[in-house]
Amino acid sequence: MNEHARDGAPYLTAEGLMARTGGRELQRVVFGAEAIDARVREMGAEITGHYGPDDDVLILGLLKGSFIFLSDLVRHIARPLHVDFIVASSYGAGTTSTGDVKLLYDPTAPIEGRHIVLVEDIVDSGNTINRLTRALESRGPASIELCALLHKHIAEGLVLEPRWVGFDAPTDFLVGYGLDHAEDFRHLPFVASI
Ligand code: IMP
Ligand code: MG
Repeated sequence: MNEHARDGAPYLTAEGLMARTGGRELQRVVFGAEAIDARVREMGAEITGHYGPDDDVLILGLLKGSFIFLSDLVRHIARPLHVDFIVASSYGAGTTSTGDVKLLYDPTAPIEGRHIVLVEDIVDSGNTINRLTRALESRGPASIELCALLHKHIAEGLVLEPRWVGFDAPTDFLVGYGLDHAEDFRHLPFVASI
């Protein structure tokens, strides 16, 4: 990586970055750790303000990509809530969506009558969201909202537009802060292109 490595500060020195990537070069930091932190705080406050005091809120994280985003986000939501996860898979080891979304784990938490916040790392083709939204809607939630860290704005016919978006993303393939390429790079504290 080039001079942009500084955007990942204060969590990572150039040596720390090399240690985490095994020496593989990233192209550039697209969203630095400090920018992500500031935006995630804002999103937490927005979600806090969106719901009434008696609403039964379930934060549903889409694994694995949302695991860091969700864990930071819920610490900035100042109201009672529950957390559960869904595991879906659409990419395999490639960098383009296969369009074939598999549901590998279903939440144990009940959905009926509850306010669901589906937490995604990134909205790309929209296949995952379209498939999951339909599956969840059939279980009678009080509402479903989508909260995505990143949105590429290339999806056609999204059945649910995200109410909360961290950042509009370039169409490059992005890694870090939960996002992977063939399972690598999830643990980077910033989002970079490869
Ligand atoms: P979609 O179904 O095409 O919208 O893609 C959704 C999932 O694909 C996301 O939850 C990510 O896990 C993955 N994905 C999409 N774009 C990227 C990317 O740029 N980097 C890493 N993963 C991505
Ligand atoms: Mg992935």
